[in-house]
Amino acid sequence: MAHHQNNQNNTPNGFNQSQVVVVMVPLPAQGHLNQLLHFSRLISAHDIPVHFVGSPTHNRQAKLRVHGWDQASVSNNVKFHDFQIPPFPSPPPNPNATNKFPSHLQPSFEATTHLRQPMADLLRQLSHKARRVIVIHDSMMASVIQDVASIPNGESYTFHTVSAFALFLYLCEAIGRQAMLKELHVEIPDDTPSLEGCFTNEFLDFIAAQYECQKLNNAGNIYNTSRTIEGPYMDFLNRIGDHQKHWALGPFNPSTILKSGNSNGGRRHMCLDWLDKQAPNSVIYVSFGTTTAMKDEQIAELAIGLEQSNQKFIWVLRDADKGDLFSNEEERRAELPQGYEERVQGRGLVVRDWAPQLEILAHKSTGGFVSHCGWNSCMESITMGVPIAAWPMHSDQPRNTVLITRLLRVGVVMRDWAHRDEILTSLSVKNGVEKFMGSKEGDEIRKRAADLGAAVRRSMVEGGASHMEFSSFIDHIARY
Ligand SMILES: *[C@@H]1O[C@H](CO)[C@@H](O)[C@H](O)[C@H]1NC(C)=O
Ligand SMILES: *[C@@H]1O[C@H](CO)[C@@H](O)[C@H](O)[C@H]1NC(C)=O
Repeated sequence: MAHHQNNQNNTPNGFNQSQVVVVMVPLPAQGHLNQLLHFSRLISAHDIPVHFVGSPTHNRQAKLRVHGWDQASVSNNVKFHDFQIPPFPSPPPNPNATNKFPSHLQPSFEATTHLRQPMADLLRQLSHKARRVIVIHDSMMASVIQDVASIPNGESYTFHTVSAFALFLYLCEAIGRQAMLKELHVEIPDDTPSLEGCFTNEFLDFIAAQYECQKLNNAGNIYNTSRTIEGPYMDFLNRIGDHQKHWALGPFNPSTILKSGNSNGGRRHMCLDWLDKQAPNSVIYVSFGTTTAMKDEQIAELAIGLEQSNQKFIWVLRDADKGDLFSNEEERRAELPQGYEERVQGRGLVVRDWAPQLEILAHKSTGGFVSHCGWNSCMESITMGVPIAAWPMHSDQPRNTVLITRLLRVGVVMRDWAHRDEILTSLSVKNGVEKFMGSKEGDEIRKRAADLGAAVRRSMVEGGASHMEFSSFIDHIARY
């Protein structure tokens, strides 16, 4: 990092940055916790103290699942504040639901709004000690940080965990997209999906409430994305004029992993040892993130399809997280067809625990990723140069699929969103995998993905665009 110095008080530009403190407020869902935790670590590397705010269970989850770097390296500069919230129900996901949005997490989101009071107390305390208190909150947590308005030296930034493309589409819709698009020469495929089936009404209400709070407070916007990937949409967000600042600060993947493909303090997951023995680009990685629960029937079809494709694979087979990871609620253990794991032995690995996704994607043997297209997974895959076979489930995923397959062209559609209510048959899985991994078209996509990944990684090193944008953000929050 350009600004990193161990010298406590003086950075290269002579600022006493330790007088500025950052408070991070994540939404308690894995993909969100993880982003702000990584971001915390990067900020603290500039000698800026970071306070990470959450309920005890969600802070515990964030720390437990930190990946890509050593846990101890976080604890020094990042202070976790475990604030109590009222108990909330933590039901398992319902794999049979037609709308795949993880509605079972809603109670944990609602309960988290009770962080507002302890958060206000923390802000007041910090306000006396620090030159400036920077609050960086998930866009879904604006209600919790409302009281920043009453802190004279407080400033709050909205952190967006979805793609700039998805936000750009929401905004186009809100302000009438046609005119804007023409003016900007941005092309959006006509059949880009609407939001139908992407969220629950409950969650849309929650978003609307957060947005109302955010409007009052916001000093700027941070996106976990890279201009190398989403330049046109970032330009759009910059232009639609509320004079706010917009920073594209991703990807936040630890750079050590980019180099070695393994940096987890020596502990290595067995699937990485297995990958070591496979040929380059020969393995397909199958995972649907932390908010997907598939029907039994769909799991069976997927299993058979993978088996019949004769393709090497790593399949992460697990249900969506519960709102409280550590609650005792019964969890489903998805059944595989009789004798399945023996039959695919040596060729396919079924992983039921927490898989080291970044390391898997960084591994040279991994040649493709069957993904739900959550934004984290998209960015991780792009950064590592791995093409995606898209199987979107909910939220921004159907639109990310358009970005990946049609605009960036670093992936193919495995499951068409329009057919989301049907079971994808084993034959379609088999054909999809074979075409993706073993065709000329697949190889062209793999080549484009590798090129884009290389460009993104170049932007992250000193002198690169992402690196410079990060530095400018640090300078901005530490300014006099
Ligand atoms: C889902 O449906 C299957 C039958 O298709 C049933 O066996 C199972 O118990 C259901 N699971 C839940 C959680 O409702
Ligand atoms: C956001 O940060 C997380 C943590 O590094 C990373 O895994 C993910 O790829 C990032 N996403 C983007 C869009 O940069």
